[in-house]
Amino acid sequence: MTDLWQSAMDHGVAVARTAGKVVREALRDDRKVMTKSSSVDLVTQTDQQVEQLIIQSVKEKFPTHRFIGEESVAAGEPCVLTDEPTWIIDPIDGTTNFVHSFPFVAISIGFSVKKQMEFGVVYSCLEDKMYTARRGRGAFCNGEPLQVSQQQDIGQSIIATEFGSNRDPEVVDKIFTSLRSVLSIPVHGVRGAGTAAINMCLVASGCVEAYYEIGMHVWDLAAGSLIISEAGGVVLDVEGGPADLMSRRILAANNRTIADRLVEEIVSFSPVRDDAPPPVEAPSKQ
Ligand code: IPD
Ligand code: CA
Repeated sequence: MTDLWQSAMDHGVAVARTAGKVVREALRDDRKVMTKSSSVDLVTQTDQQVEQLIIQSVKEKFPTHRFIGEESVAAGEPCVLTDEPTWIIDPIDGTTNFVHSFPFVAISIGFSVKKQMEFGVVYSCLEDKMYTARRGRGAFCNGEPLQVSQQQDIGQSIIATEFGSNRDPEVVDKIFTSLRSVLSIPVHGVRGAGTAAINMCLVASGCVEAYYEIGMHVWDLAAGSLIISEAGGVVLDVEGGPADLMSRRILAANNRTIADRLVEEIVSFSPVRDDAPPPVEAPSKQ
């Protein structure tokens, strides 16, 4: 099996590179923007095209493998993680960045077997940085080993977070309450690249101590979570318990000390899980 997963990872890296080229070329043209759950939850034809490209290419080589892909789920495919080998794909992480040519856009591909991540690939395609990790074998950027920051003092740290696309006033209030508390620790700074996957790679690279968010999805996190843990960091729930990639809550940090300090400041809430059954529609009145 070991070699099989290595050949799957090699394929993941190759297809992510091809996908990155498609994304870079698409940036030269006008982008037709569509919306999904709200007017600020964006999608383009490139997101859909890249997801199809990745899935088709993987299917040809690994016909029995399963997929969870952002745009397939948006089109009605189930979002269920089984024990089977499963590719968890975000064809463009940072779609809003892509639409605005803000220069952080990633292709994120995680691979899970028996609900455990075996490898993760995040290709930051405008920076041409290929982040990779394989379980038990370390994390790398363009082949160079990654190591999280050794910082233990939250007051000397940079924290990454995002605002997501939920503009429900109650949710926005909670996000800002957390942000105010974290800033007021005080930390050196708060940053956000506009993509969960790249934020996680920045933690793995050691230039950001932690990343937290509530509201992103399993395809934003799957690859990056392994890249952080293989770089020596911790991946947890925002309340400090074990991470659950379907829960849409994440706190990833360089170490437990920094993570525990952030747990004290984050106001937690629980969005609808990625693997929740679709809502049953009420019968229409005659
Ligand atoms: C989004 C990005 C963003 C995060 C959102 C995600 P998308 O993914 O990762 O940084 O705040 O929660 O949904 O829509 O660009 O793939
Ligand atoms: Ca996406």
